[in-house]
Amino acid sequence: MQPLKIAVIVGSLRRESFNRQLAGAMVKLGPADFAFTVPPIDDLPLYNQDDDAHPAAPVARLKAQIAASHGLLFVTPEYNRSIPGVLKNAIDHASRPYGQSVWAGKPAGVLGASVGAIGTSMAQQHLRNILAYLDMPTMGQPEAFLHVGAGLFDSSGQLGASQRKFLEGWMDRYAAWVRHHAA
Ligand SMILES: Cc1cc2nc3c(=O)[nH]c(=O)nc-3n(C[C@H](O)[C@H](O)[C@H](O)COP(=O)(O)O)c2cc1C
Repeated sequence: MQPLKIAVIVGSLRRESFNRQLAGAMVKLGPADFAFTVPPIDDLPLYNQDDDAHPAAPVARLKAQIAASHGLLFVTPEYNRSIPGVLKNAIDHASRPYGQSVWAGKPAGVLGASVGAIGTSMAQQHLRNILAYLDMPTMGQPEAFLHVGAGLFDSSGQLGASQRKFLEGWMDRYAAWVRHHAA
């Protein structure tokens, strides 16, 4: 059987990003028949509608990776109570030219970790608005607003015991969500 391809979009470019670390940990929790890739978004130009007819190579690459995927997993920090600009830039690129969005119909899951007390909840809600507009069926529950300071990672950088069981359950639900919508 062909593996189900999942593109993991990480909303932070920071080298030591907690969200990139979380994305890596989630990939390890994924089922054996899921193949995860993390498309880079750090080399995308700023979106400019003038370039729609001649997309830069990184834009074409991102669109091809999304188009080939069966599902999306967004793992993002919260910046000023919304999603980081780099994530919005990537989403905008892959939504254009008009009528040629590669997001539509792709099942999605949303996760985020933050040093703040409300653990990316506002960013995730903004992201959900965008994904709804892009016609992406997005898993509603369980929500995952992860606080970095609460033992999310242990001293070796692996998922700590406090959230591991919850995130295993989250991945089980997400895998079922993708299978349902990919069928
Ligand atoms: C520009 C900026 C804005 C931020 N705004 C928020 C915020 O609104 N809520 C929050 O919980 N944390 C906020 N933070 C702190 C982030 O949670 C923290 O920097 C986190 O480590 C970012 O995720 P990363 O480690 O994956 O890069 C902000 C950080 C930056 C750099």
